[in-house]
Amino acid sequence: MLSLVLTESALELVPKELQNHSSVLSYSKKMKKRPSDMILDISWHYAAMKGIKDSLKRGRPDLVHLCLLEACSIPLYFEKKLRVYVHTINNKVIFVGEKVRLPKSYHRFIGLMEKLFSDKKIQEGGKNLLEIKDMTFDNLIDRIGAKEVIGLSTKGLKSSYVQLAQELGNNSCIVVGGFARGHFSEMVLKKIDKLICVDKNPLEAHVVIARLLYECEKRIIM
Ligand SMILES: C[S@@+](CC[C@H](N)C(=O)[O-])C[C@H]1O[C@@H](n2cnc3c(N)ncnc32)[C@H](O)[C@@H]1O
Repeated sequence: MLSLVLTESALELVPKELQNHSSVLSYSKKMKKRPSDMILDISWHYAAMKGIKDSLKRGRPDLVHLCLLEACSIPLYFEKKLRVYVHTINNKVIFVGEKVRLPKSYHRFIGLMEKLFSDKKIQEGGKNLLEIKDMTFDNLIDRIGAKEVIGLSTKGLKSSYVQLAQELGNNSCIVVGGFARGHFSEMVLKKIDKLICVDKNPLEAHVVIARLLYECEKRIIM
């Protein structure tokens, strides 16, 4: 089974220290939600987020949405040859179940994430569609138990999507950053066996995911 981990993803609830900021309070009033129950989003909470720690890896749930839509809408995933995980910047892991159909609407996706952070599970017919747990990247990688962990980064060795897909075994784990800018932390790098760059330009994570998984799919199921 191929695994995809979106790591250090910019997905979290509004942290305690920002809950009383005026931009957060006015948005919470408008949405009729408590600040502590809302997903942090730089589009709405920009003023509150100025100067916070690790700001480049926070408040971009839209990136996670795009990546998940990409990974969970393809034959490789429908045919149960791909497992998908979201590791967040605050060391939580979302386990994506089989045949999950995520909302295309961003607004509905955010609602779903808020429910997941609050209830810890989203179920249908007794099965977990999504589950969130406190878990470090180390523990997730150990739990997946892949033969090889491949990180995607502009700092990696130059390769191509085709070449990488040919080299990947079926029991490999692909790691992509779920953040807007910046690079993997040491904590992630130390669990990665090989770091690969697939384009001379820094690209959006969902573009890298789409292109690489398509090449893997051609090799695995076509
Ligand atoms: C928006 S990028 C973050 C940019 C990061 N500074 C970089 O250059 O890798 C999000 C993720 O997409 C992947 N990515 C983006 N461009 C890439 C490239 N040219 N080669 C390999 N991975 C790439 C990486 O996993 C990265 O963490």
